[in-house]
Amino acid sequence: MTELNNIALKILSNGKGILAADESTGTMTKRLQSVNVESTPESRLLFRETLFSSESMKNCIGGVILYDETIKQISKSKKTIPELISSSETIPGIKVDTGAKILAGSPEEKITEGLDGLRVRLKEYYKLGARFTKWRGVYNISNIYPSKLSISSNAHALARYSALVQECKMVPIVEPEVLMEGNHSAEDCFQKTSEVIKKCFDELIIHNIDLTGIILKPNMILAGTNANKKISGEDVAKLTIKCLKESVPSEVPGIAFLSGGQSEIEATENLNLINKINDTNFIMSYSYGRALQQSALKFWSKDTNNTNGTQAVFNHRANMCTLAAQGKWSSKLETN
Ligand code: 13P
Repeated sequence: MTELNNIALKILSNGKGILAADESTGTMTKRLQSVNVESTPESRLLFRETLFSSESMKNCIGGVILYDETIKQISKSKKTIPELISSSETIPGIKVDTGAKILAGSPEEKITEGLDGLRVRLKEYYKLGARFTKWRGVYNISNIYPSKLSISSNAHALARYSALVQECKMVPIVEPEVLMEGNHSAEDCFQKTSEVIKKCFDELIIHNIDLTGIILKPNMILAGTNANKKISGEDVAKLTIKCLKESVPSEVPGIAFLSGGQSEIEATENLNLINKINDTNFIMSYSYGRALQQSALKFWSKDTNNTNGTQAVFNHRANMCTLAAQGKWSSKLETN
């Protein structure tokens, strides 16, 4: 087993998942403003540090994705944030893309930037303690999108990123996110997501990526948020597994879904249904941002010094997601 495969398995084994706490300062500011908390380096640190010192970090959270600001911050206990995370045997990771910008040639679509100077930044992040990274490509669906241009340019960028990350001895999370927004059907989502993922692997293979040392972070197969017809959780699970079976090479050790705007319960329930019928060799777990943090953020905003209360809310969510990653969740557990 290679070192990279070891890291990927350590992050995702035994129902563990990933806490995606890598919101950029702009996105985190929106999240904090939505609960009437002023966004400052100190308030962003306080909320995140509260989560990172929770009990569930030990048994549920195998990896935390950080943002550039956070990986360089010092916690109350004087540990650096990567040291605080590692003290729970959790692996620190880092978002390394610099965001999605307008795609020249198809201005209604986005291309993710951040390749220039990436090797130098990766070396710095490794020294700070990061052992895995994230890069998110984003695709919107309509009858004409995602275009061939967006599918191939984002796949190319994800592959160049992955090659640099593996060269620097870290595990790349490859995140091609087909967005939920729109009135598309689940069948459209299935078809476009399959095309996007297949192209990513074509490029990863061309770039000589060790597929045993990556984690794929895809969307689940869902009908668009404004679609006339929604599908059942059982169908979400079936279509999601069919899509991944057909598009992901078997060497890939693990898949960690994004929540993408699903509610906390929806994201948990769908992950649970996926694991109940998972007949692949892929570990299927979570890499949630909003679906792990929403309730904790709301609770914390009422009294930002209530560490224990906030941690209890976060611990519950993390425990539910970890049960779902093993197909052992049930809605009854939510009310206990
Ligand atoms: P959500 O789970 O809120 O979609 O965030 C995951 C993520 O990291 C998006 O890049």
